[in-house]
Amino acid sequence: MSDNLPRRQVLRTAGALGLGAAAAGALSSTADASPDRVAAMNAQHGHGKLEIRKDPFGTTPEGVGVDVYTFTNGRTTISMLTWGATIQRVETPDRRGRVENISLGFDNLPDYAALSPYFGATVGRYGNRIAKGKFTLDGHTYQIPVNNGENALHGGTIGFDKKVWKAKVVKTDKVVGVAFTYVSPDGEMGFPGELTSTVTYTLDKQDNLRIDYLATVAGKPTVLNLTNHVYFNLAGEGTGSIDGHVLELKAAKYTPVDAGLIPTGELAPVAGTPFDFNTPTAIGKRIRDDHPQLVIGRGYDHNFVLSGKPDHDGLRFAARFWEPTEGRTVTVHTSQPGAQFYSGNFLDGTFQGIGNKSYRQGDAFAFETQHFPDSPDHPTFPSTVLRPGQTFTSTTIYTFGTK
Ligand code: BGC
Repeated sequence: MSDNLPRRQVLRTAGALGLGAAAAGALSSTADASPDRVAAMNAQHGHGKLEIRKDPFGTTPEGVGVDVYTFTNGRTTISMLTWGATIQRVETPDRRGRVENISLGFDNLPDYAALSPYFGATVGRYGNRIAKGKFTLDGHTYQIPVNNGENALHGGTIGFDKKVWKAKVVKTDKVVGVAFTYVSPDGEMGFPGELTSTVTYTLDKQDNLRIDYLATVAGKPTVLNLTNHVYFNLAGEGTGSIDGHVLELKAAKYTPVDAGLIPTGELAPVAGTPFDFNTPTAIGKRIRDDHPQLVIGRGYDHNFVLSGKPDHDGLRFAARFWEPTEGRTVTVHTSQPGAQFYSGNFLDGTFQGIGNKSYRQGDAFAFETQHFPDSPDHPTFPSTVLRPGQTFTSTTIYTFGTK
């Protein structure tokens, strides 16, 4: 952006700044639209023009420029930073056509660097926890710097969420978005092998935000677990608790954890427990139950073993979140075997986000599609090993809608 407007104002004036008529309409003129008009508008914008723009966002203390890419299909608008290949904003209409940002984040780089609990970030090299930061691969033991009690979380002290990724615009007649690439040197954060990861985020005209992960390793085998850590509140970022959001999660089992949130190794059935969301249930309905796993996690902070059938581009249905008042939904499909459902338990009101509201416990959820936590220390879990010559791929789709 060439002006000095804060980001939140900038997006409100997207049309004036050149994002195009369709985006400007979706962003600013739908507040009192009738459902019929909105449906007509959505149909029209559903075939709207795909657009993208790039603006400077900030500079790291090392002097590296960070950009924000904003891409839209005329109805949903996504902003992403080269810092951590981070989803900064997701602007999408509710059932009455009112557009809000539903993703937690900040409007400035220093807050991302200093405060962010992985808001919207692409997480790696190993998302989720590795017990004591230690694992053995081909007879070699590796130590990742611990940053979560005695364990390593989300890749150690300086994970992929704190790196500036290279960005390349992707634009076809069907999708618009950005391919982000980061090369992690051999030995970075203690992990073996030079890992090249490309994570491509694209939005289509049907409000599918598709994330394609691709990685190769050179020199030595490694372990990896790439995910995205976007936090949503479907009533709008900063609007309060997600207790009333209804969740359907297709999983027959989950991986119970010890006091450090490391899986015990057991795959426990969800049936008859507060972890059973196979029938849509409000997140807050059982979150205060005296189930020992809810006490350990201070709520939901658990990996689910996904058991849905592939039904969308060969990907399995994982979950659907629905906020009944405004009506927004987000549906998740993935090729990954698991997903961490995290009910924002450690948000504690200590800082304000992009809309100047404090984020308190349970004000958002994350649904991190992934391999199981601590897989390198659990030979019975699906393998997270990547060897030179192999290519790792996975895909996750977040679909935004209303009901
Ligand atoms: C973890 C939580 C953690 C959060 C933010 C989640 O993936 O499971 O325990 O607080 O990330 O770091």
